Formats: sequence, C-alpha cells, structure tokens
Amino acid sequence: MVSKDVYYIGVSDSDIRTFDIIMKTSNGTTYNAYLIKTTDGFILLDTVKEEFSNTFFEKIESICSYDEIKYIVMHHLEPDHSGALPELVRRVPNAKIFISPMATNMFKSITKIDNMNFETVWTNKNLTLGDKTLKFLSTPNLHWPETMSSYLVEDKILFSGDVFGSHYYDNRVFDDLVGDFDYSFKYYYDHIMRPFKSDVLNALKLYDSLDIAIIAPLHGPIIRSNPQKYISLYRQWSTKESKHHDKKIVSIFYVTSYKNTQLMAQKMYEGVEDVNNIIANIYDLSALDEHNMLDILEESTGVLIGTPTINGDAPKPVWELLGCMMLLEKKGKVGGSFGSFGWSGEAPDMIHQRMKSLNFRVPMNPLKVKLIPTIDELEECYGFGREFGEIVDGKMVEMTL
Ligand SMILES: Cc1cc2nc3c(=O)[nH]c(=O)nc-3n(C[C@H](O)[C@H](O)[C@H](O)COP(=O)(O)O)c2cc1C
Ligand SMILES: [Fe+2]
Ligand SMILES: [Fe+2]
Repeated sequence: MVSKDVYYIGVSDSDIRTFDIIMKTSNGTTYNAYLIKTTDGFILLDTVKEEFSNTFFEKIESICSYDEIKYIVMHHLEPDHSGALPELVRRVPNAKIFISPMATNMFKSITKIDNMNFETVWTNKNLTLGDKTLKFLSTPNLHWPETMSSYLVEDKILFSGDVFGSHYYDNRVFDDLVGDFDYSFKYYYDHIMRPFKSDVLNALKLYDSLDIAIIAPLHGPIIRSNPQKYISLYRQWSTKESKHHDKKIVSIFYVTSYKNTQLMAQKMYEGVEDVNNIIANIYDLSALDEHNMLDILEESTGVLIGTPTINGDAPKPVWELLGCMMLLEKKGKVGGSFGSFGWSGEAPDMIHQRMKSLNFRVPMNPLKVKLIPTIDELEECYGFGREFGEIVDGKMVEMTL
C-alpha cells in the first residue's frame, strides 16, 4: 500500500540491462502503476509493459473486480506504461480514460484501438470520484510531449509520471527500504530529463503549490521519506548557474592531424576572445571525454567546430561531440564550422548541416582553408571568430535584421 486507499500494482523487470537503447541499468527497473480506492469505485493509474501483463492483471484482481474500475489515467503513453492498456480496455470497456491533449494524436497509433472512450485533461482540471479528487498537471516533454502528472489531494500523493523516476528494481519498493538508488536517480535525470531542463523547472513550479507527502513515479522507488530532497535535486540540476554572470561562453572544438585546423582554431579563439561580453574556450576533441563534452556544450551559447576532411568525412570525435547534443537542451545555441582540407573539403559543410538539423542557429558559412593556412587566411580566421562572437553576443543579429 502506498497509503490507506492507494495500492501499488506495478511490476518488476529485474533482468533488463539496457533501457530505451541509451540507458544501462544494473538493477533492472519497475513499471509502476497504482489503484486508488474511493467510496464510488476505483481509479486506475497507468499500466505496464505488455510482457508483464499477467502479473499486472493478477494484482488488480486481488484488489477489486474490473467493473469497479470507473476511470483510467494514462500519464504517459510510452509502451513501457501503455503496453497492457489494450487488454485492460477489453477487460474494463466502460471506464473512461484520461490523457493529455498532446496524447490524442498518438493514442490510436500506440494502442491500435478504435473508438476509445477518452477525455483530455490539463493543469487545473480535476477528476472527482466518491471521496477522492485527482488534480491534473501538464508536464510536457518529461519524458514525451504528452506526459502529465497528477496529485491526489486527500492523500497528498504526487503521481509524477517519469519525473523523479529511476531505473532501479528492489522489491522493498519504498525509498526508505530499498538500497542506495541515488546514482540511478541522477543517471535517469541525466538521460531523460536533462535535455528538457526548462520543462523540469516549469513542472517544479506546478509541484511547488502542492503539499506533497509521497512521490509515486512510473519507475523505481516510491519516495515517501523525504520528497523535498528529491525535488531540490531536480531544481538544482535544472537551474542554469553561470560562474561568469552575464558573460556568454563560446567553445571552440577541433581535431587536427598536421596542426592546420588547430592553427585556424587558435586564431578564431583570439577573435572570439576580443569580443567584450564573451568568454572563449578552446578544446582538442581528440583528448576530451564524452562526459566533459556534455558539460562544456551545456554551458556554451556558441559552439565552433573545426575539422579537417578525412576520406570525405569529419573524423569520429567530431560526430561524437554532436552525438552528445541528444542529451542536452539545444534552445538558443549558435553554431559554426571550419577546417583545413586537401582537395574536396566537405567535412565543415557536413558539420554545418548537422548543426542546423540539431536546431542550432548557424548564421555563418563554413570557413575552409586549403592545407596550410597563410597569414592572410589566419587573419580571416580571426575575423570569423570575432564576427561569430559578436553574433553570440547579439549585436550582429540586430545589425543584420
Ligand atoms: C588519411 C587522409 C585522408 C584525407 N582525405 C581527404 C579528403 O577526402 N578530402 C580532402 O579535402 N582532404 C583530405 N585529406 C587532407 C586533409 O584534409 C588535409 O591534409 C588537411 O590540411 C589536414 O588538416 P589538419 O592538419 O588540421 O589535420 C586527407 C588527409 C589524410 C591524412
Ligand atoms: Fe518514458
Ligand atoms: Fe517510462
């Protein structure tokens, strides 16, 4: 029991070791679901991954009969939570399903059911059944665009969806009883929530108005001993703190075999550094760990990437750098590319295009130099860096508009 009237009907997936391709989990995970008992019947919150359906239905049947379930709330439609929904709907055909408006257009694609009996809900909408009131909270992008949370007023329970989740299975279920899952809580945040920090802060604003005694997420331990500790951690991780106050950071990353691209990078660094409100950094990508790439990219408003062309392509560390962007918020970043080449020189163009598709603003054409840069070409690199720095600072954008 999560509280006097709230039952845990989640299942464990103790053997899973890779989740959603990008996450490792040494302790497996859980797919959490809940049943709320009211004086007028039950509200069921979320389902589980399809292959665990049998356990899920056994758990429901041990608590109530299917016709006592009046409503179903789906906080998130990812298959790890909606897998058992089609079968649930067959068993409970008359229950109305509550989803967020954003979920409407994926509902049919994910359940393959026609004529679904559903209603959309968002922040400030309530569901009252018997003696219980569930308040809905829109929390988009945490983890998918349709994800929402809800709050059970009488029991002070926040059903947070993927927010505050961990891929961590321990059959003792509650945070005060399970082993140390803090590493898993942070790892989950880094992979699922970090790209959407602004959305996390918006969700926290909604949660701040609630008196939360228990956080019941969709994965991992239910948090009842100190919910505020976990809320504070999310706030701390999502708040952008700059050591440099109002100055913006431009980071220049390069790889080089014969130092040609490096020479260009150094001149660009000088150009950027000469812009007043900008701090320039320069990094040789061949000696930068992915973990550090992430932190640097995150704090940089401007990102310049220097790459030679090798066999018609940019070398692997350059693609790895851009691969990291999957785990970061891209809003408001400015990008640019440059490099030395021998004969075809397509690498900086490829990086330019890649940054564009990652939603960077890429205002300048790539600067390419054939083989060893001349003094004039190095001057051009200085000018390129300076102009880039000014654009990041906002000045050039205003002038060119
Ligand atoms: C293995 C190898 C493959 C290369 N392939 C290309 C190529 O496909 N197109 C091109 O324009 N230059 C190519 N180059 C030339 C380099 O881009 C050129 O030497 C450049 O100046 C190297 O810059 P760096 O000193 O910054 O590494 C190649 C060089 C090497 C060593
Ligand atoms: Fe998810
Ligand atoms: Fe999930």
